[in-house]
Amino acid sequence: MAGIVAGKVAVVTGGGSGIGRAACEIFAREGASVVVADINVVGGEETAHLVTKAGGKAIFLKCDVSQAADAEALVKAAVVNFGGLNCAFNNAGVEGESSKLADATEENFMLNYRVNILGVFLCMKYQIRQMLTQGGGAIVNTASDAGLIGVKNLGQYSAAKHAVIGLTKSAALDYATKKIRVNAVCPGPIRTPMLMRIFEESPRVGEAMIAAQPVKRLGEPSEIADAAVYLCSESASYITGHALPVDGGYMAT
Ligand SMILES: NC(=O)c1ccc[n+]([C@@H]2O[C@H](COP(=O)([O-])OP(=O)(O)OC[C@H]3O[C@@H](n4cnc5c(N)ncnc54)[C@H](O)[C@@H]3O)[C@@H](O)[C@H]2O)c1
Repeated sequence: MAGIVAGKVAVVTGGGSGIGRAACEIFAREGASVVVADINVVGGEETAHLVTKAGGKAIFLKCDVSQAADAEALVKAAVVNFGGLNCAFNNAGVEGESSKLADATEENFMLNYRVNILGVFLCMKYQIRQMLTQGGGAIVNTASDAGLIGVKNLGQYSAAKHAVIGLTKSAALDYATKKIRVNAVCPGPIRTPMLMRIFEESPRVGEAMIAAQPVKRLGEPSEIADAAVYLCSESASYITGHALPVDGGYMAT
């Protein structure tokens, strides 16, 4: 199959929903074999089914990114089923609860820490070990505009996403001479189940978010996925250590 990642093997975490599902579909459409990883079995299996129904190659693996054994098993699944690992989109994430800092809980902090930071670290660790044996690869982590600026009532999420960008840039420097590129995408508000949960909790916040967007609309999951697949492709061969806002211009405001 022709495409910008033809013949590559990709893993996508959080592949059972939203941005991750769109990425699985686009990786496969662009010629990659895909391991769909998610803690949600129903959503993950559905994504793998959607990909194969459309003529692509995909398998589902139940994976909790905050568990080292699962992160390692994900890489193994790519190697055993498809012969290696070329591209990784570490996208699984949780939004947690919204509140001002003094009202926030340690539980919410730890949830953000485990999934949004530890999960990205563990996945990268095993992916990079495999990519070193293969002589290269490309990794994209999902941060957020909230990883570039502060966000009212979402301090713990914002802190976690800032950390994702720190891990991304540092890993890019660590492996720059090993042909492993590491980048991040920073989505603005994207029409996914995660954002819809935030909108349901506070419709006024939702309206304000759209009004603040230069393009006056939400992004679609495929608009983030397209950027991630591009960054994993050879077309982005000189791009590493970059945190790319994909946000309808919000970071330019
Ligand atoms: N939607 C937005 O507006 C937006 C904006 C900025 C950043 N993001 C980021 O984009 C990424 C994808 O979010 P989305 O909007 O598609 O959300 P989503 O809730 O639709 O999808 C997230 C997926 O991650 C999975 N997941 C959660 N915890 C996991 C774990 N421990 N192990 C494996 N999988 C796990 C969920 O089951 C779900 O399928 C997240 O990292 C999120 O923080 C989203």
